[in-house]
Amino acid sequence: MYGLLRPLLFLLSPEKAHHLTFSLLELPGATALSGGAAPPGTAAVEVMGLRFPGPVGLAAGMDKDAAHVNALARIGFGFIEVGTLTPLPQPGNDKPRLFRLKPDNALINRMGFNNGGVAAALERLKRRNPGIIVGGNIGKNKATPNERAIDDYVICFEALHAVVDYFVVNVSSPNTPGLRALQEKGPLLEILNELKRRDAAKAVHRPILLKIAPDLTDGQLDDIVAVVKESGIAGVIATNTTIARDGLLTTKATLETIGAGGLSGAPLRARSTAVVKYLRARLPKPVVIIGVGGIDSAEAALEKLEAGADLVQVYTGLVYEGPKLIVRINEEFAQWKIRQ
Ligand SMILES: Cc1cc2nc3c(=O)[nH]c(=O)nc-3n(C[C@H](O)[C@H](O)[C@H](O)COP(=O)(O)O)c2cc1C
Repeated sequence: MYGLLRPLLFLLSPEKAHHLTFSLLELPGATALSGGAAPPGTAAVEVMGLRFPGPVGLAAGMDKDAAHVNALARIGFGFIEVGTLTPLPQPGNDKPRLFRLKPDNALINRMGFNNGGVAAALERLKRRNPGIIVGGNIGKNKATPNERAIDDYVICFEALHAVVDYFVVNVSSPNTPGLRALQEKGPLLEILNELKRRDAAKAVHRPILLKIAPDLTDGQLDDIVAVVKESGIAGVIATNTTIARDGLLTTKATLETIGAGGLSGAPLRARSTAVVKYLRARLPKPVVIIGVGGIDSAEAALEKLEAGADLVQVYTGLVYEGPKLIVRINEEFAQWKIRQ
């Protein structure tokens, strides 16, 4: 079905196509028509004290406001990551801010954390169907200076603690000025230690993951390893979008017209797999690694798992391949598990 729909969606601007797709997904019968299906029981994964029905999650940024969690769970996702959410609603950057790179099966975006704020998402999450694993990806408002970033993370953490299953501290979006400076050891430890301290004081505990950029040097990745060990957080999501533009088929002129933003999809695959591998060699299980970047086939998902990821997430692959992608990964994963 998505094979028929995609050419029509691609006639629209990427953001309009996004909104139309979600409206369609909410219609009765959409799950069956989409080709999506619940993961087979044999595809379940147990990590962080949670039982994920399948290994594929929706990456952050597609359902920022937690408006479609129930429908997304129906098409086969084992978990849904909402956000990035900020304390206050904010409009994000001016449009256009999302671009297709069709020859590369890729996207460039500079959305800039457009979202309706954490309070509105909280109300929606309270009403979601039971049993759906949801991650809360949290960030800071554009207007908040880095010196006070910690306050924004704390506000979002406290607001969502009762309704999400795990947290993701996002310090790796290229589209909020200065945000990636928070990946430095000092500010990062301050934020993570504070969230861990707050979590420890609660009756229920939520695993905390850190989402990192693919553009970090080995030295910076070593700092991330040290931060994970020192703070005792549950793990890492590798990776966010890249600011690199290497090896693309899209012409230089088109790239210049598009301008700044994070590149996602097929061109990111090898780099994010390399980051997963680098981290796993230094962060043995039970530290959790979620692999994300350029997964557009079951083979690409297995590559991340073989590099050491416990779970995977998709965004751009879903835009190009549709919900069948999730079904294929779930099936291949169940077979792969038997072979291990
Ligand atoms: C349009 C768009 C918006 C995104 N927004 C967010 C976001 O708000 N927070 C975040 O952590 N990652 C965000 N991402 C990054 C994705 O979650 C993912 O890490 C990245 O796209 C790589 O995966 P992919 O190649 O499967 O797309 C966004 C990606 C895209 C394409």
